[in-house]
Amino acid sequence: MLSQAADSEKGLKRTLGAGNLIALGIGAIIGAGLFVRTAAAAGQAAGPGVTLSFVVAAIGCAFAGLCYAEFASMIPIAGSAYAYSYVTMGELIAWIIGWALIMEYALGAATVAIAWSEYLNKLLGGGIPYEWSHSPFESYTDASGIHHQGIVNAPALIILFALTLLLIKGTQESAFINAIIVFIKVAIVLLFIALGWQFINPDNHTPYLIPEGTAAVTDQAGKVIADYSGWNKHGWGGVLGGAAIVFFAFIGFDAVSTAAQEAKNPKRDMPIGILGSLVVCTILYILFGHVLTGVANWQDFVDPEKGREASVAYAISTYMSGYGWLATAVTVAILAGFSSVILVMLMGQSRIFYTMSNDGLIPKVFGDLHPKFKTPYKSNMILFVFVGAFAAFVPGHVAGDLTSFGTLFAFVLVSIGVWILRVKAPQLERPFRTPIAPVVSVLGAIICTAMIVGLDGQTLKVAFGWMALGLVVYFLYSKKNSRLNS
Ligand code: ALA
Repeated sequence: MLSQAADSEKGLKRTLGAGNLIALGIGAIIGAGLFVRTAAAAGQAAGPGVTLSFVVAAIGCAFAGLCYAEFASMIPIAGSAYAYSYVTMGELIAWIIGWALIMEYALGAATVAIAWSEYLNKLLGGGIPYEWSHSPFESYTDASGIHHQGIVNAPALIILFALTLLLIKGTQESAFINAIIVFIKVAIVLLFIALGWQFINPDNHTPYLIPEGTAAVTDQAGKVIADYSGWNKHGWGGVLGGAAIVFFAFIGFDAVSTAAQEAKNPKRDMPIGILGSLVVCTILYILFGHVLTGVANWQDFVDPEKGREASVAYAISTYMSGYGWLATAVTVAILAGFSSVILVMLMGQSRIFYTMSNDGLIPKVFGDLHPKFKTPYKSNMILFVFVGAFAAFVPGHVAGDLTSFGTLFAFVLVSIGVWILRVKAPQLERPFRTPIAPVVSVLGAIICTAMIVGLDGQTLKVAFGWMALGLVVYFLYSKKNSRLNS
């Protein structure tokens, strides 16, 4: 595998330093997780304690991130966790991870596209009818008794289509554009923290966790839109439940690991890139969660007529008088920022498909390159149909939770994989070694598993159904067609 990578990717130049890698990470990380799911976690599970949820999620990510760094430095090839497990744990486990990664990247792209649609609607003053900007599984009855029923999320579909075309043309996100987007994203987060701080109402922070026995919230027709009775929906359980939700906000730091071959000094810079971007984001996220739940009450984030959607713009325009311009600026910047996250995710997914197709596990069509643009255009089109279907017809929180599941699952296997390979092949050269390896890998696996358990019961059912489907595909198709078998 390594010699193959050296062969096909020898054009890559080692140009990235630690600073570039941190910027790369932040560019892929800050997105819908922060601007949409922070409020969702506060409203559904953690209350103002969403700040603590960020801490839990960050610890899990840090441990898993160290394990990613070890693999990234020794197996620096495209395909991320799929490629690592192919080498260390064999084809079947690699297939399982690859299948889970579809949830991370494809559904991640769908989730961010749905979030994009929310903020576009906000920018247009709520001008897009509910029916055309929500999935058929979403409905609510407003204060005047009118029932709104989603049909299709059209804006999400449109942004995905536009970005798919861009990917097929092969737009390489240059380091320069990435740097600008990173700058804008961080600037907005800092602005919101700095300007919002003075609008924090301490009453909103008491109690800090959702109290046991909090009544469920219903719409005008009596339909339950938030239920706090589950163990992971209030108190400390809610902090863990919230961690599983905001975990989405950290997804993307593993993108740094895919640049291992381009790092000037991978041994030193990969861990700095991975952990550095994590540390920066964690600090920003905690402060951001603190201000958001201080400016607006977490209960606002449940109400479809208040801050359930486009929460940050809502909090600014409702509670920070005189800062209407900030709400608009934030919304525009968020739309740009989300687009770059979607692009990275769609690209990541097509790369993973490409590698899996070369290994014979999925049909060759996923590896076909466009004669002129040299991009996997057929794969991109198929991906658009799949991702588009989710973005159009599935609620954002469902897609988001499944994304968290897929990623956490991959993190658990990567954490365990590092340890397995240390035992199986201790002699291999490891430019970066995970410190106190068995401890870090075991803790990484445990914390990520805890977050999986903290996910919604319904999500877990769908996720396990998806994984079971993956096994059926493997035994009916992939095993027979795999390159190892030919
Ligand atoms: N972490 C990325 C986001 O929040 C996926 O959008």
